[in-house]
Amino acid sequence: IEKRQTNGDAVMLNQIHKSKKVVLVGDGAVGSSYAFSLIQSQIADELVVVDVAKDHAEGDVIDLEDVMPMAGPMGIRAGEYSDAKDADLVVITAGVPRKPGETRLDLVSKNARILESIVRTIVDSGFNGIFLVSANPVDILTTITQRISGFPRTRVIGTGTSLDSARLQVALANKFQVNLQDIDANILGEHGDSSFAAYDEATIRGRALRTVAMEKNITDDELDQIEVDVRKKGGKIIGLKGATFYGVAYGLTMLTRAILNNENMVVPVSAPLSGEYGLNDIYIGSPALINSRGIAKVIEEPLSADEKAQMIRSARQMAEVLMNA
Ligand code: 2OP
Repeated sequence: IEKRQTNGDAVMLNQIHKSKKVVLVGDGAVGSSYAFSLIQSQIADELVVVDVAKDHAEGDVIDLEDVMPMAGPMGIRAGEYSDAKDADLVVITAGVPRKPGETRLDLVSKNARILESIVRTIVDSGFNGIFLVSANPVDILTTITQRISGFPRTRVIGTGTSLDSARLQVALANKFQVNLQDIDANILGEHGDSSFAAYDEATIRGRALRTVAMEKNITDDELDQIEVDVRKKGGKIIGLKGATFYGVAYGLTMLTRAILNNENMVVPVSAPLSGEYGLNDIYIGSPALINSRGIAKVIEEPLSADEKAQMIRSARQMAEVLMNA
């Protein structure tokens, strides 16, 4: 009798604590860096790695197994799209990366084709969770993922300008000689060449960045130069080492945590606009509230007139590329 009761309890516990399952599609530099940081962060119970290069995925899995005795356990294995059936989250990093000199938009036709077949197959598996996309051009590919999947827009998210905003914070902390945590500043718009720094709303230790800049004799030209450098940083990293991956991979981990732990985190992502900034039917970099429902709310930053014009210009460019994708 005692034994039966114990078993019964175990079954009940399993039902209460549904394991948190992530399927990673694309085990290249970004995907494997994400897997490495996910295992360290101990937020998922299960990770299935899917890649066309099956040996690479299998190799990464057994390499990452060795992290577990030190970092803590996580179920990890190489698998198939069908593993998405009962996953909470599908993370898509698959696609051709940029080469030196290429823009993110140069990748659109190749990566849109790759993405379309992935998304269709995953939806056919019965997947009913949240899509998280980082493949470039991320805003376009996130929009396409939503359209092809037919999922509610809350359940499709792109990494967007979370990475660019992190880069801006690094640059500003250096320039203003303050701690990273003291800076609240975002890059918005396309994750790409039409992005812009929302300086007019940015703060340092809670005070307007523009005011602090004046006090420190930091000129508008210097701030503009930081914006340009941030925009070019991805290209610079690619020029130096062939690819960028740690920044975006950790951004994916941060978003995974916000979703799986229902954190209500506000972060700039590729967010689906419906009226915000006067724009519709497109994903573009804007702050949004992320929790277990996905993008629970797009948070429209109260932009200055200048910045709003930049947002609209960026979105127009996205819309044009989308029409030809
Ligand atoms: C980055 O900005 C290439 O989009 C990638 O690092």
